Amino acid sequence: MTDLTDAARAILRGNDRQGPGGRYTVPNGRVYPFQWNWDSAFVALGFDTFDRVRAWQEVETLFSAQWQDGFVPHIVFWADDAGYFPGPSVWDTGREPRTSGITQPPVAATVVRRLWDTALAAGEGDAFWSRVERLYDQLLAYHRWFAEVRDPEGRGVVVAMHPWETGRDNSPEWDAPGEPIDVSKVGDYVRRDTGHLDAKMRPTKLEYDRYLALVQYGRAQGWDHHAIAAGNPFRVADVGMSMILLRANRDLRDLGAMLGRDTGAIAAWIARAEAGIGWLWDEAHGCWCSRDLLTGRRSGFVTSASFLSFYAGLRDPAKDAATLAHLARIGARVPYLMPSLDPADPGFQMIRYWRGPVWAVVNWMIGTGLAETGHAEPAARVKRDTLDLIARNGFYEAFSPVDGTGSGGDDFSWTAAIWLAWVAGDRSAV
Ligand code: GLC
Repeated sequence: MTDLTDAARAILRGNDRQGPGGRYTVPNGRVYPFQWNWDSAFVALGFDTFDRVRAWQEVETLFSAQWQDGFVPHIVFWADDAGYFPGPSVWDTGREPRTSGITQPPVAATVVRRLWDTALAAGEGDAFWSRVERLYDQLLAYHRWFAEVRDPEGRGVVVAMHPWETGRDNSPEWDAPGEPIDVSKVGDYVRRDTGHLDAKMRPTKLEYDRYLALVQYGRAQGWDHHAIAAGNPFRVADVGMSMILLRANRDLRDLGAMLGRDTGAIAAWIARAEAGIGWLWDEAHGCWCSRDLLTGRRSGFVTSASFLSFYAGLRDPAKDAATLAHLARIGARVPYLMPSLDPADPGFQMIRYWRGPVWAVVNWMIGTGLAETGHAEPAARVKRDTLDLIARNGFYEAFSPVDGTGSGGDDFSWTAAIWLAWVAGDRSAV
């Protein structure tokens, strides 16, 4: 275990970069050479186990790229790299630093709350007090942006405007909602991802055409997020982002209370989510899933995001039992939880990105939520499977739930970070 912990630290150190906004970590030097939003949040959890200051810097650098309206981009292009597509000139957001125009799952508040807790436990609260105050204000602005811009119908959910926003790029949840996207004017382009990685592991050409058509749409709106929310051809209430934001709001409220702030607005967002998130429950399939805002259609897919209700702090005996039954069924079918798509689904592909592979970061959220809500056995299984996958195969981007084969890039920052958070951060549990 110690060797692997050393290796995980070495990966984070190796992917550490200095940019004009401060230090940040690239998810993987070759495939993803910039700063990614939710990757950085998870990376901070890893750094927090051995370099507390560096952990805070990671989140601070990300938030130094926050837009004035509170929006935090999914990519910050701190340095040039011709090996990546679509780069800053394709996004053309006209911001400095250069960024993309979409966001990603808002795990940051949950992470900052953890960083604060470990600082306090180490008796270093004073040293981090002004930093937590500043991040709190930035996080509050980010969450306000979600409440005001990304929940246009006030349903208590998060509406994604691009599959990349969900962090689960090619999940089958986006297939039907993606159909109306007009790809006829996308034009020619050269993908870079398939130059670094086997195309079998990556999204298809049709999916990529849709991704680019949506980037072009956002650009045509001058990245005015209100205009995008009103007319985007893709508007899907994502179960993953909705659960993650609900959880993040609970953590932000706790931080605000600790800082002596008025947390009334956050409490209202939580109440709205608790009242409305049932809209994402699919009674026919007994699962949580995403729902197309434009057609009202539920995806009906059991994905790894279906298991984030525990992490969100939701308690509903009937829905919990149905969700746990899916977990048990899937756990009996594959050696490694939690596949990103139900292996019983005909579209399941064990190494194609978000259509089958296991992702350590999602497992961390699922496992954390299960443990917190008293489901110790499935929580332990999810954690054990994650650590086994890494120990046997390496720090890959994702893994086949069937045989553990690594999928995507290796030496991946967030996989190393989850190892550290689960092993180095909590040695007693290994
Ligand atoms: C892929 C993943 C996304 C991640 C990014 C960088 O696009 O789908 O979740 O943030 O890579 O690792």
